Amino acid sequence: MTRLLEGKTALVTGAGNGIGRATAMVLAREGAAVLVADIDEQAGRETVRLIGNEAHFVQADISDPGAADALVAEAVKLWGRLDTACNNAGIEGKMARLVDQTDEDFTKIFDVNVRGVFNCLRAELRQMLKQGHGSIVNMASGAGQIGVPMMGLYAGTKHAVIGLTKTAALEVARTGIRVNAMLPGMVDTPMTRERIYPGQTEILNFAPAGRPARPEEIAEGIAWMLSDRSSYMMGSSMIIDGGVIAGSPLALEE
Ligand SMILES: NC(=O)c1ccc[n+]([C@@H]2O[C@H](COP(=O)([O-])OP(=O)(O)OC[C@H]3O[C@@H](n4cnc5c(N)ncnc54)[C@H](O)[C@@H]3O)[C@@H](O)[C@H]2O)c1
Repeated sequence: MTRLLEGKTALVTGAGNGIGRATAMVLAREGAAVLVADIDEQAGRETVRLIGNEAHFVQADISDPGAADALVAEAVKLWGRLDTACNNAGIEGKMARLVDQTDEDFTKIFDVNVRGVFNCLRAELRQMLKQGHGSIVNMASGAGQIGVPMMGLYAGTKHAVIGLTKTAALEVARTGIRVNAMLPGMVDTPMTRERIYPGQTEILNFAPAGRPARPEEIAEGIAWMLSDRSSYMMGSSMIIDGGVIAGSPLALEE
């Protein structure tokens, strides 16, 4: 069977860890040449080492519009085009009730999760409109569909990512470009295991599935959304969450 992304080029932001690294690796396995972008140089270079020849690293802080433009420019310099992009980089912000979040907390998380996705999306769309083709996946979250106590700012940013995704998709719907969103539930990454819920196995396993997702389980869905096999999917969301948004976990069979 032909690989999903044979001969394509891809940009993945936040590809130094977690879901971004798994995505970069799955895209490479599926035949794509990958530009690995991360603010953390060591982590990004390690992803490139794990992938091998077809990957390149660029250090970038996506909250800086110039850095997003430079990422796309690097892809064009390397390959003459950018076929696919996954705007994955994001931060969790401070765990606190909304009443205890500061102006600085707000600016910090919106600058990365919303402005950062917008910066990348705009730069990618400008290039893809010139080419007349492309496929983009923005990283949202189940928290883009429901409220999350103690993570209200995070939930606000992920709702915003879904709004950007839908609007961008409509604006380019007849240009050969597709824009969609990925909505994972709890995923076993440094963000969740080391920072949000360190040592809290019960919370990490709270999904009806009884365990968090492995990053690769999210990456597989991203690869499909980026590929031509999802050709009629536009402005839409794929939920991979072990059943969380399906409903209440009450009365689950053990
Ligand atoms: N882990 C989960 O349970 C989960 C669930 C739903 C959605 N998500 C989303 O998936 C994405 C990846 O999450 P993860 O769990 O793999 O996180 P992670 O913290 O494990 O990895 C995120 C990577 O992004 C990089 N990064 C952070 N800020 C950046 C910036 N300004 N510019 C460039 N790179 C930056 C980090 O250096 C890191 O390598 C995030 O957008 C997150 O909100 C995660």
